[in-house]
Amino acid sequence: KEISVIGVPMDLGQLRRGVDMGPSAIRYAGMSERLEGLGFTIYDEGDIKVEIKERADNGAETRLKNLEAVTKGNVRLSEKVEEVVRLNRFPLVLGGDHSIAIGTLAGIAKHNKNLGVIWFDAHGDLNTADTSPSGNIHGMSLAVSLGIGDSSLTNIGGFAPKIKPENVVIIGARSLDPGERKLIREKGIRVYTMHEIDRLGMTRVMEETITYLKERTDSVHLSLDLDGLDPDDAPGVGTPVVGGISYRESHLAMEILSEAEIVTSAEFVEINPILDERNKTAEVAVALMSSLFGDKLL
Ligand code: ARG
Ligand code: MN
Ligand code: MN
Ligand code: MN
Repeated sequence: KEISVIGVPMDLGQLRRGVDMGPSAIRYAGMSERLEGLGFTIYDEGDIKVEIKERADNGAETRLKNLEAVTKGNVRLSEKVEEVVRLNRFPLVLGGDHSIAIGTLAGIAKHNKNLGVIWFDAHGDLNTADTSPSGNIHGMSLAVSLGIGDSSLTNIGGFAPKIKPENVVIIGARSLDPGERKLIREKGIRVYTMHEIDRLGMTRVMEETITYLKERTDSVHLSLDLDGLDPDDAPGVGTPVVGGISYRESHLAMEILSEAEIVTSAEFVEINPILDERNKTAEVAVALMSSLFGDKLL
């Protein structure tokens, strides 16, 4: 019943400014009070040091934007996450753009050779330098964690891959680049696109996901990109895609996960307060966390 909160003010994995303020926005939305109210002890570890945009120089010889600064921030994050796991506390990581999943997963996987991952996202984040339309590392973090990509990223923590493709479930996908579709097919990654969510309903999607991960993994990390939700419900994100998961469906997903008791670490990413409406998206993130940690009306 101990949670360590780790903020990661990272905005270098993409180009829109403001997502580095995500951790403050989530704290300001009352996260600690909500989780303490559920009986948890919260250790706020503060923020990981990340270079500011103005000082991060883009190593000219690579297509990957801000590679050096993104790598350094993720190395620091991975060390902190590893320490938290060693203390037997639940790591709750606050983003920051989704490139931080690289560091989070590096830290968790160090002590967990058979980790499952739920990637809740409108996107696959399965690009490489060759397939990326943007050069933005936040669109590559899942591929990197599978050991595919630039070695300075895939080798963080001194080992690769962090996770196996058959241990990943993507939920909410509705924007996949051609290279990402190819990788999904080649690696046999399980994906519930919006089509399957509409067709089967969120209950069945989550039940299948839980059964699937229970069969083959020892513990599960939830990587929740707020753009998995519909932009109506979570407007404060840098890469919104219409036709997403509703507020209620996302809560249902968290509630079913909570009952299944399989999630052992989580991150909430891509909250951009500059693009938000009066901190609505950070408030959604806190409400989802609270459901994930067992909040119930009755
Ligand atoms: N697929 C696009 C890209 O590679 C968008 C990625 C968006 N990723 C995210 N974590 N929001 O640039
Ligand atoms: Mn993402
Ligand atoms: Mn996304
Ligand atoms: Mn709607």
